[in-house]
Amino acid sequence: MKSFDCFALDTANQCLWCNGVQIALAPKPFAVLRFLVDNPGRLITHDELLDALWPETYVQPQVLRTYMLELRKVLGDDPGQPRFIQTLPKRGYCFVAPVAERSAMDRGRPSPASAKDVKAAEIVGRANELVRLHAQFEIAQSGKRQVVFVCGEAGIGKTALVDAFCRQLDSAQAATLAHGQCVQGICGNEEFYPVIEALGQLCASPQREAACRILSRIAPAWLAHGREPEVAAASPAPPNSRQRLVGDLCAALEELAAEQPLLLVFEDLHWADDSTLNLISALARRHAPARLMVLATLRSRKSSAAHPLKELKQDLLMRRLCAEIVLAPLPKSAVTQLLSRELGQPDLPPELAAFVYRRSEGNPLFVIAVLEHLIAQHILVRKDAAPLAAWQQAAPLAQFPELDDSVPDQLAQMIELEIERLSPEQQHMLEAGSLMHVAFPAWAVAAALELDAADTEEACDELARKLYFVERAGQDELPGGACSAFYVFAHGLYREVLYRRQPATRRAKRHIRIAQQLGQLFAGREASVAREIAMHYEAAGQPQRGKFRAS
Ligand SMILES: Nc1ncnc2c1ncn2[C@@H]1O[C@H](COP(=O)(O)OP(=O)(O)OP(=O)(O)O)[C@@H](O)[C@H]1O
Ligand SMILES: [Mg+2]
Repeated sequence: MKSFDCFALDTANQCLWCNGVQIALAPKPFAVLRFLVDNPGRLITHDELLDALWPETYVQPQVLRTYMLELRKVLGDDPGQPRFIQTLPKRGYCFVAPVAERSAMDRGRPSPASAKDVKAAEIVGRANELVRLHAQFEIAQSGKRQVVFVCGEAGIGKTALVDAFCRQLDSAQAATLAHGQCVQGICGNEEFYPVIEALGQLCASPQREAACRILSRIAPAWLAHGREPEVAAASPAPPNSRQRLVGDLCAALEELAAEQPLLLVFEDLHWADDSTLNLISALARRHAPARLMVLATLRSRKSSAAHPLKELKQDLLMRRLCAEIVLAPLPKSAVTQLLSRELGQPDLPPELAAFVYRRSEGNPLFVIAVLEHLIAQHILVRKDAAPLAAWQQAAPLAQFPELDDSVPDQLAQMIELEIERLSPEQQHMLEAGSLMHVAFPAWAVAAALELDAADTEEACDELARKLYFVERAGQDELPGGACSAFYVFAHGLYREVLYRRQPATRRAKRHIRIAQQLGQLFAGREASVAREIAMHYEAAGQPQRGKFRAS
């Protein structure tokens, strides 16, 4: 078996392995990779590759670009600074990593640099992301510092992924690990809150002797006076010395990383204080070699992170000083796996996976909540009284039509908490948005609440910037030529909670105003929106008005 870096190419099973994690590849990308690995260190022209892989067929050379893109994603390769596949413009490609022979028995064995023996099955559906994290860590191990942001909506599995990665590094004793948790409401007020937690962990880790020695020599202000050396804490930082404090700490962390690679994890960076962000910024931008990786999780969907963090991430991305892993919802196969794991049985009741996948939209937190809800409602029951008896459906799911409209209590409470943090005006705007089916345009919110359309669009933009569960999705041209932005909820369950929390009479009024506005906007062409108008009147309890309009 041929291996390169932390990867091994398994030609028997037509897959790739990285530190014991199996990565499935479709046949063509696998064949492209195999050809590259079989011919390392030399130019492979487009024609040569096309002839080898499609001997009988004419194929556009652009197809190769798609496969290279896919392979780079899997390998965590950066075309600007390739570690594996280098593009030679207008000519072809070169596989630049050294390739070695490895025995087939070794495929699951960790590479010496980042050994680990943890089962990939610990978390489901994230093999590619784990491989990317390991690839970034290997770069860090070679002395090129790395900053990696793991992003995604609440419950999508950022912490689960980072924890799995840390356990793998930890079991291989490949790095010194330290975690700092940002906490909502605290971090805004307390400077360096997660940094101090991470330093505390360093000073209590197996590396404590080195950590305390280096900190007290290079960054003594970060060690609390008169406390046990195991417990580190920052002294109050006078504003004019803050820059120095950050610089000292960076230098100390770099020196510690020289003894053993260092992984600093910051969880929930969307709640971090500016000082912590400044430290991460400094760590990312310093030039000295350092065997350091900063791994941060944050809730965000594209543009919706809080401002200073969004600026930091964008700037670092643009300068190629960080990498970003955006977690997508789990595919149905992974949701099925997760359900099997949660229930402890390989065979699931027939309708379960499809139902949970549809309701959860692949968000693992929601998968677990929907599953618990089914158990709490006695829709999923044990076959018999034995404690480990298999689970089965009490009856076909069609017999529980209310299931389609019920949001599991736990989730409803979590979403409700998020909503309650907003001002009453903002809550009303989101409620109005939930009256639309999938995307909600600003004009509909304005109509429902009898507000000015331009002001409402500005306010919706502000919400989309601030909240991770609302996203601006585009702009519609209205019949008169005016434009109106539209937005989407990160998940249907947010929409459902917002819809249900409105008293029925208020909701009905809002539906009617939207229907009327639709009629005005599309005056003369009502037929094109007749179904939508009818839907709003029906939801308002006045189906007759809708039918009249539609006819
Ligand atoms: N890939 C996965 N495989 C199995 N379970 C998972 C996976 N991802 C997440 N989970 C489970 O789903 C739940 C939510 O995941 P997690 O806490 O990691 O989400 P998160 O993205 O960190 O959310 P938040 O933004 O609230 O911090 C946890 O119980 C976790 O164990
Ligand atoms: Mg988390």
